[in-house]
Amino acid sequence: MYKVLENKKISNNSYLMRVCAPMVVKNFIPGQFVIVMALEDSERIPLTIYNVDNDNVELIYQVVGASTLELSKVKDSLFSITGPLGRPSEVCKNYKDYKNRKIVYVAGGVGIAPVYSQVKFLKDKGFDIDIIYGARNKDLLLIKDKIEEVANVYYVTDDGSYGDKGLVTDMLEKNISKYDYCVAIGPVIMMKYVCDVTKKYNVDTIVSMNPIMIDGSGMCGACRCMVDGKQKFACIDGPEFDGHKIDFDLAIKRMNIYEEEEKEKYNIMRGKYE
Ligand SMILES: Cc1cc2nc3c(=O)[nH]c(=O)nc-3n(C[C@H](O)[C@H](O)[C@H](O)COP(=O)(O)OP(=O)(O)OC[C@H]3O[C@@H](n4cnc5c(N)ncnc54)[C@H](O)[C@@H]3O)c2cc1C
Ligand code: FES
Repeated sequence: MYKVLENKKISNNSYLMRVCAPMVVKNFIPGQFVIVMALEDSERIPLTIYNVDNDNVELIYQVVGASTLELSKVKDSLFSITGPLGRPSEVCKNYKDYKNRKIVYVAGGVGIAPVYSQVKFLKDKGFDIDIIYGARNKDLLLIKDKIEEVANVYYVTDDGSYGDKGLVTDMLEKNISKYDYCVAIGPVIMMKYVCDVTKKYNVDTIVSMNPIMIDGSGMCGACRCMVDGKQKFACIDGPEFDGHKIDFDLAIKRMNIYEEEEKEKYNIMRGKYE
């Protein structure tokens, strides 16, 4: 069991959880994730590490289905937290090689959590980073004060309720001449369209894939992605990949394969907590 110090709502459907997990903190490099289980019989949920603070790991998650709903009800302890998993962020791991690159991070929705951990790391190494951050409306924009401490932030909302009205891709294309390297983290469809823009202007782009995962150790094959025509597993070969080489259409198709079962399970879980 792992002690949960905080599990609080930070927007309509997003939560920040702080868990005491010193071994995870000790080995963490931004870009990596953990797999958590709320209870002994819960599903395993992959979540990117948003921040580490002394012995504690901080996670930001959105309630989208049964398991994340169950996680939001956790009070004092978590059954398990495994990690850090996956490969560290390429830019953070090899930051000396990126000193002369003009880097932009593009974040959508809860994708701002992994973006924050990477940009904070880079800011400490002397980088001056721009973030383009988009959400449907202003209530869904998270951790604004935290990201403004570490980057120049350009906000975009679908309805214009905060920052520019439009999509992150509009803002990116308007400013593309300022950049030669892009990291995009958010919904798969957003990352696909970001890559369409950066491909057009020949800007190298890394994306962080978030497929369905089960074991997180390369054994089950659930997180299979096609990259440059080759099969890769997001949990051990990723989650970051070259965005210009990913088969996004396949990734979107694979994410929806359990839609009916997910809906059914969510309704059962909702009933349990009502
Ligand atoms: C490496 C990795 C890191 C992640 N980091 C975070 C994070 O920091 N914060 C966070 O909120 N989520 C993150 N996710 C996504 C998170 O794991 C899923 O949202 C969660 O497992 C959904 O479980 P569920 O049972 O609540 O919903 P499900 O019943 O599994 O799904 C409900 C709905 O959410 C959609 N969905 C399922 N999985 C994902 C996904 N991976 N991404 C987007 N939509 C999904 C489904 O298509 C469905 O419509 C990450 C995923 C991966 C693979
Ligand atoms: S989650 Fe099983 S192979 Fe990646």
